[in-house]
Amino acid sequence: MDLEEAREQYRTQGYFIADDAVDPNMLEPLLEATRRVKAKTRTREVDVYTHRTPEGEPWAIRGLFAPEFNEPVFAEYLMSHPLMHYVVPFLGADLRLGGVLIFTSPDQVDWSGGWHRDFGDNERDGSYEVEIEILNRPMVSLKWHLALVDDSCLQLVPGSHRRYRTEEERDRLLKNRHADISTQEVMHLKAGQTIFWSGNAVHRGIYNTKPERLTLAGSWNKHVDNEEPQETDGRVKWMLADNVRGFLPERMRPAYDRWRGLQLG
Ligand SMILES: [Fe+2]
Repeated sequence: MDLEEAREQYRTQGYFIADDAVDPNMLEPLLEATRRVKAKTRTREVDVYTHRTPEGEPWAIRGLFAPEFNEPVFAEYLMSHPLMHYVVPFLGADLRLGGVLIFTSPDQVDWSGGWHRDFGDNERDGSYEVEIEILNRPMVSLKWHLALVDDSCLQLVPGSHRRYRTEEERDRLLKNRHADISTQEVMHLKAGQTIFWSGNAVHRGIYNTKPERLTLAGSWNKHVDNEEPQETDGRVKWMLADNVRGFLPERMRPAYDRWRGLQLG
């Protein structure tokens, strides 16, 4: 996809879909590795960091490049040229480790986390000024979903990443989180397509048992100098383990080291 067009769509709509952000030869190995990881996580043979439904079924699986899974293809994918073709123009070449995880259907029950913006600990019901300040912060990360099978699981409101929420959106973000929004759009992806999108957009994931969701979600971060070290996010504390760095491809280690240097542990 043309990069200028991609940037413009990302700026105005909050997303763009690329057909060429993964090496076609890597797609099948990624799908196979994902199925192995899901199987091992379901039986708890391996469980590095997993989000589970109340019934205990995985819906998000982290730790994919931990040695415990022994699946080097995930780190190779993060460093792959077709992906970097899109990542570097947005973030520059000085990258700090991001991550990769699997979003997948529980086997027995449909699942959805409901509407939200990826605001972390920031205010989720802010005034106009507060919300616009959060939305206008400099871009320090880029995230995407790679469809390993045909995937219509992500819904978002185009353009909502750069404006204050409407009253309808506020209702869905804070109260009726599982009801539709009149301006929502379903992101239909064919296997092999990648959607790069802003987590500031109002969005939700739908994880029906059928068809099975197998989304590979990734992100890279821009390295900013002189940042203060922080307490490590509990979801990625597994990356502090001594055996992780050595399992990564050598050319990925500088990005790991930039991340590691900012963790208080
Ligand atoms: Fe999200």
